[in-house]
Amino acid sequence: MPEFIDPDKIVIFSGAGVSAESGLQTFRDSDGLWNNYDVKDVATPQGWQRNPQLVLDFYNARRRQTIEAAPNKAHLAIAALEKKFSVVVITQNVDNLHEQAGSTEVIHVHGELTKARSSIDDSLIYTINEKDIKIGDTCDKGSQLRPHIIWFGETPQFLDVASRHMKTAAKVLVVGTSLAVYPAAGLVKKARHHAEKLLVSLDIEKKPYGYTWLRGTAVNIIPHIVECWLDGRKPSATHG
Ligand code: APR
Repeated sequence: MPEFIDPDKIVIFSGAGVSAESGLQTFRDSDGLWNNYDVKDVATPQGWQRNPQLVLDFYNARRRQTIEAAPNKAHLAIAALEKKFSVVVITQNVDNLHEQAGSTEVIHVHGELTKARSSIDDSLIYTINEKDIKIGDTCDKGSQLRPHIIWFGETPQFLDVASRHMKTAAKVLVVGTSLAVYPAAGLVKKARHHAEKLLVSLDIEKKPYGYTWLRGTAVNIIPHIVECWLDGRKPSATHG
């Protein structure tokens, strides 16, 4: 049964770049996290097995930075779209800045910093908000708690529901992602041929087919796009 496009549905697909102007580091830019940490040590199940304290320290530090950060004009503009449209935010980010800005439907495919989970049972998830996770913090089954983050080699969450939203969106806005990490990045290709498809970033390795790339920062460009959409106008491809 083909899913029909919902004329009122907008899907946002965001990555670390949307939170950059809130002071949170991206991963692959010149000052990105992966320049200072080895992914294998802090973002894989093997790294967790080898040195859980290093992994807890890495995510405890990122959680504290996120607590200090505030949503920026791009997060707030995306939330404002809900005045007129049915908006689903699919984010690779583990911060909660979209929610803080007022977005009400946010799908975290790579997990959330404000949650911890059992290291032996993925279904045991606990909201910890700004609390650190320490060695000795255990789940109901007595095993060590880990960050509720999807690591490399693990399966992202909610891909099916995210894919369905992409396929039924009349407008898709991809913002602040290098589209370097699959299967999450593959979601952008699920958007329909005649949906309006925009991509906002500072650079792009390979622009996904059918997308118009607006080069620039999220804070500079997203409010313009949102204003046009709320006014029923097509954003200009050169803004920024
Ligand atoms: N405004 C808009 N885009 C920006 C900005 C900004 N201010 N700053 C950076 N960017 C863009 C960059 O041009 C780049 O395309 O954001 C993107 C950041 O890319 P990455 O650092 O690779 O972040 P992301 O795409 O979210 O990474 C995906 O990789 O390590 C994993 O799980 C991690 O979810 C993450 C995934």
